Formats: sequence, C-alpha cells, structure tokens
Amino acid sequence: MTVSSKISKKEVINELDNILSKTNLDRGNLLCVLEELVRKFGYLNDIMAVEVGKRFGVDPNEVYSVSSFYAFLPVKKSGKYKIRVCRTISCKLKNADNIVKAIEDEIGVKFGNTTKDMKFTLERANCLGMCDKAPAMLINDKVYTELTPEKAKEIIRSYKNK
Ligand code: FES
Repeated sequence: MTVSSKISKKEVINELDNILSKTNLDRGNLLCVLEELVRKFGYLNDIMAVEVGKRFGVDPNEVYSVSSFYAFLPVKKSGKYKIRVCRTISCKLKNADNIVKAIEDEIGVKFGNTTKDMKFTLERANCLGMCDKAPAMLINDKVYTELTPEKAKEIIRSYKNK
C-alpha cells in the first residue's frame, strides 16, 4: 500500500485501467474496485469517486456514499500503521478503553486520529474473533491479543522504528 500525500488524476486513471483490465464494469464489482484502490493508495478521495463513477456510470456522490459506509474503505488518509483496537463487548469488559488510553499516550494522538508523521492511525474495530484472548487489536493485518496497557505500548514502540 502506498500512502501518498498527493495522488494525481493520472495515477488514479492508470490504476483504474490496471484494475479494470482484470475485472468488468458490472455494478457488483464496484466494492472490489474501491477496495483495490484503497489497497494501492491507502484511502479513497474525490478524484477516485469521480473516475470510478465515470467508469461505472454512477454519480460520484453515490460512490462516495458507498465508500464512507464501509470501514474498510477509508475516505481519509491513514497512517502507515493502522491500529484498530477492538471495542466490542468482550474486549470492552477486559478494559479495552485502558488499551486505547495507553496507545494514545504512546503515539500522542487521540482515538480516531493520525499522527503528524503519518506513521500511526488509531481506530476502533469491531470483534476480531479473538474474544477468548481479549482485549485484542490489529496493526494493519497482524493481530495482538491478551493486551495490557504496558504490552500495547511495547508493541507500538516496536513499530516506531520500522
Ligand atoms: Fe474483541 Fe471479540 S470482542 S475480539
């Protein structure tokens, strides 16, 4: 995944050409195409909504609405490492809020935000399927379980120099 501060229209068009060379413009493929764009650029922006809308023959506002509905289709730029702390019931009962607080202290931004250096974004996640090892979090695709505030801080520190 590339997290670029500026994504040009040309880059978007090239990537769409690439994605659409492997799929068709069936409306049912819209989500997959948006997911591919997120995989490439890290998030979806207005240029992508317009260009995808043109290709699929749908209003860009509709494309934007679809993307803003799904958590896996972020509409704002995220950090290199997306930290998602589970806050569903099992994790909540095991003090997931304390894990969030520890991570906020460690990275210096509040829940829902991205660090200035674009290294970390801290977000909420729904159940990660690790309830028996709660509390749990994801950093990009890697799952961490049985967290304590100190363990969470150590894990975050290990990403600081990556
Ligand atoms: Fe957190 Fe299931 S409730 S992993």
